[in-house]
Amino acid sequence: IKDFQVENEPVFGYMPGSPERAELEAALKKYQSQVEDVPIMIGDKEYRTNEVKHQVMPHDHSHKIAKFYWANSELIQKAIDTAMAARAGWERVPLAEKFDMWLKAADLMATKYRQDLNATTMLGQSKTVIQAEIDSAAELIDFLRFNALYGKEGTKWQPRSPDPNVTVNKLRLRGLEGFVAAVSPFNFTAIGGNLAYTPAMIGNAVLWKPSDTAVLSNFTIYKIMREVGVPGEVVSFLPADGPVFGDTITKPPHLAAINFTGSVPTFQRLWTQVGQNLPNYIGFPRLVGECGGKNYHLVHPSADVTSVVNGTVRSAFEYCGQKCSACSRAYIPESLWPEVKAGLLAAQKELKVGNVQEFDSFMGAVIDDKAFKRISGYVDHAKSSPNLSILAGGKCDDSVGYFVEPTIVQTTDPTDRIMSEEIFGPVLSIFVYPDAQVDEMLTVANKSTPFALTGAIFAQDEAWLVKATEALKDSAGNFYINDKSTGSVVAQQPFGGARMSGTNDKAGGLQYALKWTSPQAVKQTM
Ligand code: SER
Repeated sequence: IKDFQVENEPVFGYMPGSPERAELEAALKKYQSQVEDVPIMIGDKEYRTNEVKHQVMPHDHSHKIAKFYWANSELIQKAIDTAMAARAGWERVPLAEKFDMWLKAADLMATKYRQDLNATTMLGQSKTVIQAEIDSAAELIDFLRFNALYGKEGTKWQPRSPDPNVTVNKLRLRGLEGFVAAVSPFNFTAIGGNLAYTPAMIGNAVLWKPSDTAVLSNFTIYKIMREVGVPGEVVSFLPADGPVFGDTITKPPHLAAINFTGSVPTFQRLWTQVGQNLPNYIGFPRLVGECGGKNYHLVHPSADVTSVVNGTVRSAFEYCGQKCSACSRAYIPESLWPEVKAGLLAAQKELKVGNVQEFDSFMGAVIDDKAFKRISGYVDHAKSSPNLSILAGGKCDDSVGYFVEPTIVQTTDPTDRIMSEEIFGPVLSIFVYPDAQVDEMLTVANKSTPFALTGAIFAQDEAWLVKATEALKDSAGNFYINDKSTGSVVAQQPFGGARMSGTNDKAGGLQYALKWTSPQAVKQTM
């Protein structure tokens, strides 16, 4: 396998007058002035059904940017048949050739198509320029490059053959015996690329169901991967109604794996369907899921207030709190509260919410009407509950776009549902605790929710940091010390959580690519 090394993709600054800014502005103009027709793709063929849908701009929801079609169960079945027919031939393509394609795609994404990815992510998913850049440019490119690197490293390992004159042992990494279904979310364009194309890179044929609210950016990825030589039969692009997709892919005997990022109830439903179908499968489908969180910032009285304030504002409100890793509950000691509160309120006032095409916006709109209703429901709960008070924000307005102000809520009850349920929006809830109870807060942070995705502790007291790190061992798959709970970087902080946050298979980690293989140990007597 060809030798190569990779680095994390640098993030551009988009300062006024910079070449990248001019290119991005041109791309924004282009995608804004058209409604791209996005077909269902199976093999080399385009399909269009009567179930016509539109992707709108969340910050201006009367504005359509893409027209697409839901695949029905016949088309999903056709994609399964196509994948089953293609998989053996694709598996035979040498890994080195596949890695080459992935590296080439990453280079194209870093150059020629960078602003197509950014513009479609900004307009379709209402990301600000910097959030789009770290997602659809840097993270996506990193996934492709590092998965190729880890695929190469992982496949190099061979078992011991103590006396090769007598016995030769080999490990053959086969693709899974069947098809893989990838179901991806709206909140990171990069996640779609990773869920669909990492199993494909290592030798599998995949059915990719993108989120309805990320169709345009995800189709951009699909087209780039086709351009570098990934055959249409290897990854089908299938926007579809979730339950129809789930029902159809879980029935056939050759379901080999589901690679999922989304909500807990959807993952549980898929898991249940797979369980009910077990007698019909030729094997045990591999289920990999990442399902959200209720992430905490726990602050010790010795913490540095400036880093608490900056980290908490960024974690809770960047991308409207719609990162699975976003902080949505914070525990602050009484002694620091006046200073932390003043800092949070001052920072909140400065956050510009608006059209993401204005480059100084800090937040755009939340993704759609369903999200807007769910989040405003929590804001209403905060307004009406005697245990809760809104310290800042609280305004929700969906007349033009799905806008929710960055909202800070204080609760006197650490068990209130606002401290335990996933909101997935720009609502930060805070419990102020008496300093003497700091160690009790370890249990509260650990046990208040069913999730364990990300968590952060802030302290200068070294002994407490050691103690808290141990006490909170199971509370988060990604744990931060004196840093915010968001912003994991591929190959630096492999990402994923346990408990109800998922199967913790660590996107951006060493083992991820190999997860999609079925290794065969071969012993040959000489
Ligand atoms: N990887 C992202 C973060 O850490 C979440 O998906 O913020």
